[in-house]
Amino acid sequence: MNLKGRDFLTLKDYTPEEITYLLDLAADLKEKKKKGILVDTLRGKNIALIFEKTSTRTRCAFEVAAHDLGLGTTYLEPTTSQIGKKESIADTARVLGGMYEGIEYRGYGQEIVEEIAKYADVPVWNGLTNEYHPTQMLADLLTIREKFGHLKGLHFTYMGDARYNMGNSLMVACAKMGMHFTAAAPNSYFPNKDLVAYCEGIAKETGATITLTEDAKEAARGADVLYTDVWVSMGEPDDVWESRIKELTPYRITKELMSFANPKAIFMHCLPAFHDLKTKIGEEIYRKFGLTEMEVTDEVFESEQSVVFEEAENRMHTIKAVIAATLGAR
Ligand code: CP
Ligand code: NVA
Repeated sequence: MNLKGRDFLTLKDYTPEEITYLLDLAADLKEKKKKGILVDTLRGKNIALIFEKTSTRTRCAFEVAAHDLGLGTTYLEPTTSQIGKKESIADTARVLGGMYEGIEYRGYGQEIVEEIAKYADVPVWNGLTNEYHPTQMLADLLTIREKFGHLKGLHFTYMGDARYNMGNSLMVACAKMGMHFTAAAPNSYFPNKDLVAYCEGIAKETGATITLTEDAKEAARGADVLYTDVWVSMGEPDDVWESRIKELTPYRITKELMSFANPKAIFMHCLPAFHDLKTKIGEEIYRKFGLTEMEVTDEVFESEQSVVFEEAENRMHTIKAVIAATLGAR
């Protein structure tokens, strides 16, 4: 398998075999890291990390992974760079492509990361756009594989806003890996029809299935994985909170909902999560709407079934695999 020089913009561009290769590589790099074996064969190279939206996991995962591989990093954000204000995306991509061996981009429309990839002659990695979050997918798949020993045939249920980056990406990931994907949400939060049709096409080849339903309990029944995300994503206006709370509360992952799932089911969340009042936004929502928890209850989040922190750690191992594979580390 040779992925040297490839971009990583959405899992749509990767075959199931290539995804499995990246998961295997991540598992190997994880084991080496735990044993203290250095794999810093990319010494002398550098990568640029562009973040137009905030981040804890993705930024730290890229920085730690890069440093472990021997790479230098530069972190760029809109207030301290010319990106978008004084310099176009195409010009920025060509400038960075001349200095760095790879570029990560987190921001708004998918078309922006695609434009960077078009103009930069080096691998470009999508660190989250409105439409897709592909590096998160590798961490999620690795975590599920660690827990169940395989991916094919597992029942995966996503609760909540299924038409944004997480819902879209998880549907693609499950379709590619032959998993049974169910999204539960009000009809208006279903992923767009073209993407559903694309995933159904892939599903026919891999044995996956795609189900969209408004019935949360039916969706949870027999699931191996219950997954959710925040109700309002980065970059969305504050005035959508009220309708999101009203429409998505029936899809909150509670202990009762977990009881419909496989007794060995795991709870997953890309994080950050609103499961208590220990955040500024969580507190504001409590003051305005009286909610003490949102997409998941604190009880489920803190339960034995929750694997969210292992999932977060796996962001680093999987991002390391993407960098290593596309930069041709040996
Ligand atoms: N899951 C995730 O992408 O987290 P950050 O926003 O902290 O990077
Ligand atoms: N849907 C969330 C994912 C965060 C990792 C957002 O875009 O804010």
